[in-house]
Amino acid sequence: MLDNFPAVSMRARRAMPSDAAAIATIARALQWPGDKPPASGGFLININSEQEYREFIREGCPIVVVEDSLHGMWGFLLGFEASYYHQLAPDWATNLEWRDGSRQQLGDFILVDQIAVLRTRGRSGVGAAMLRELMRIRPDRPLIAEVLQAPHENRASLRFFKSHGFYKEAWRVADSLVWSLLFRPVE
Ligand SMILES: CC(C)(COP(=O)(O)OP(=O)(O)OC[C@H]1O[C@@H](n2cnc3c(N)ncnc32)[C@H](O)[C@@H]1OP(=O)(O)O)[C@@H](O)C(=O)NCCC(=O)NCCS
Repeated sequence: MLDNFPAVSMRARRAMPSDAAAIATIARALQWPGDKPPASGGFLININSEQEYREFIREGCPIVVVEDSLHGMWGFLLGFEASYYHQLAPDWATNLEWRDGSRQQLGDFILVDQIAVLRTRGRSGVGAAMLRELMRIRPDRPLIAEVLQAPHENRASLRFFKSHGFYKEAWRVADSLVWSLLFRPVE
């Protein structure tokens, strides 16, 4: 599967507090620090500190990592239950614009707040494995992913989520940034 690495199999699992340092290292590696997305595509903004990641894990947030026994962690997915996220960002849902102009009720969902895969491991199924693990541990919840649309569209991320059945229904505008909200209903 990966040409540049010895054949070791990756494993997706729920994160433990001891994973926080490795998660923060991956987040920092993928942080978008400038005013232009990297040419290789994909970027994260609003990363969290190691302490914050540890706290989210301790609080029981659905957080998934992919690793192998030889090289360590390859990527992570930070999910939030709707009830928890509303406490973190109380105004979040009030800034939504829906495709059909309605003011829909969001109900209970899991927000995929961050998903990040080391560039050296990109496009080898790590992101897909983390999404599958999230759906395995929380099969009862629809998913929402928030992806930056403007001023720079995160094309890699949009393409990734769309290929997993997410579709665009709403937008959120905050701090001069436009975010697309992509929904994936329970199957
Ligand atoms: C988005 C991301 C998590 C995908 O992870 P991944 O492990 O590469 O995903 P998978 O290997 O499971 O799936 C690959 C698919 O994702 C999309 N994709 C991934 N990287 C891409 C890129 N550079 N350009 C275009 N599409 C890309 C494509 O649909 C690709 O399928 P393809 O190779 O058949 O075209 C990863 O690119 C990443 O970490 N990006 C940086 C951080 C980020 O922007 N996160 C999203 C914030 S909302």
